Amino acid sequence: MLTFHPVEHQKQARKRIAVIPGDGIGKEVIPQAVKVMQASGATLDFTEFDWGADRYLRDQTTVPPDGFAMLARDFDAILVGAFGDPRVKSNIHAKEILLGMRFKMDLYANVRPVRLLDAALCPLKGVEPKDVDFVVVRENTEGVYTDAGGVFKQGTPDEIATQEDINTRKGVERIIRYAFEYCKAHQKHDGSPRTKVLMCDKSNAMTHAGELWQRTFKEVSAEYTQITSQHMYVDALCMQMIRDPRQFDVIVTNNMFGDIITDLAAGLQGGLGMAASGNIHPGRTGMFEPVHGSAPPIAGKNVANPFGAILTAAMMLRHLEFTNEADKIEAAVLEAVRQGKTTEDIGGKLGTREAGEWIARNMSS
Ligand code: NAD
Ligand code: IPM
Ligand code: MN
Repeated sequence: MLTFHPVEHQKQARKRIAVIPGDGIGKEVIPQAVKVMQASGATLDFTEFDWGADRYLRDQTTVPPDGFAMLARDFDAILVGAFGDPRVKSNIHAKEILLGMRFKMDLYANVRPVRLLDAALCPLKGVEPKDVDFVVVRENTEGVYTDAGGVFKQGTPDEIATQEDINTRKGVERIIRYAFEYCKAHQKHDGSPRTKVLMCDKSNAMTHAGELWQRTFKEVSAEYTQITSQHMYVDALCMQMIRDPRQFDVIVTNNMFGDIITDLAAGLQGGLGMAASGNIHPGRTGMFEPVHGSAPPIAGKNVANPFGAILTAAMMLRHLEFTNEADKIEAAVLEAVRQGKTTEDIGGKLGTREAGEWIARNMSS
């Protein structure tokens, strides 16, 4: 049975947080998120890990032996920055660390809330905060991300490369069920109930996987008679997302479509610097990370927007039932946006550190 509480902890007990800033702007935004959590009064103990490109280039370690078991055993949640460094062309460390956590810890639900804080942040005209308040529930452990496939006759004119799309009944069913349970258990920010789950696929072209998703969605949705079920092809959904984002509530989709549509959705919120996410398996140690990457061109310049990471920290605190602290952080970010106390990507004049400090100083108690 799904539950949205990690249950085996007592509310407000000290929580152990593993912090993995990673590469590029991850190393700048995560310290701000940590600072804000400390200022929020949440009782947390942080342990930082140096997993990322620098470590990999130094000693070839991506994840130390027993790393994932250690995270699951010794921590209540994990806060991650981003992975990706031009010096590591293969991107092997990102694959082993980031996808490693998602896959090996079986964090099957990638929950990506899409919320507009202020009309000024949305590139669409006439769109208000109340119009953009939906959640993408992305399957996080299979699809084209399993790296199944191979190459044959590499480097010859007859070269073949295959990339397989793995969809299991178990994987598809549990993510669809998660989306319905999420819809049942969560309200919109204006206090109204969530009422719709939309499954997004490409079953008109990808017929084998599509049929499994379609059939499973139909079966699971029949158990949730209070919730409206809908379907859209992913291409049409992209168009609808910018034509009329008001129509969306909970979207469930596969790994790759979820990746793509959440960057598009980040655009509705003010860009990648504003988007938060959680990688969740109910009852287990979850991993929380901003949607953005390591942004090498802007790294080290104190210009990256830390709000995506800070909102991710709030999401993590809410998951750990630090509800009051999460509310305070989100309220302060909203106020910062309203007052223009932000980085330049969303129109302000502050640096990464200064924007983080503003949030840390301006949380009401
Ligand atoms: P990216 O998200 O790093 O950057 C895309 C664009 O958004 C860039 O213009 C960047 O400057 C801007 N941007 C991103 N975050 C921002 C922030 N906080 N503030 C202001 N602007 C921000 O995506 P990319 O350029 O496609 O990828 C760069 C590297 O990051 C690659 O190695 C990629 O594989 C990796 N990546 C990692 C993750 C992750 O670890 N979760 C996610 C996405 C990309
Ligand atoms: C994300 C990223 C990752 C993904 C990359 C870095 C593998 O884009 O978290 O959205 O595709 O899942
Ligand atoms: Mn992505």
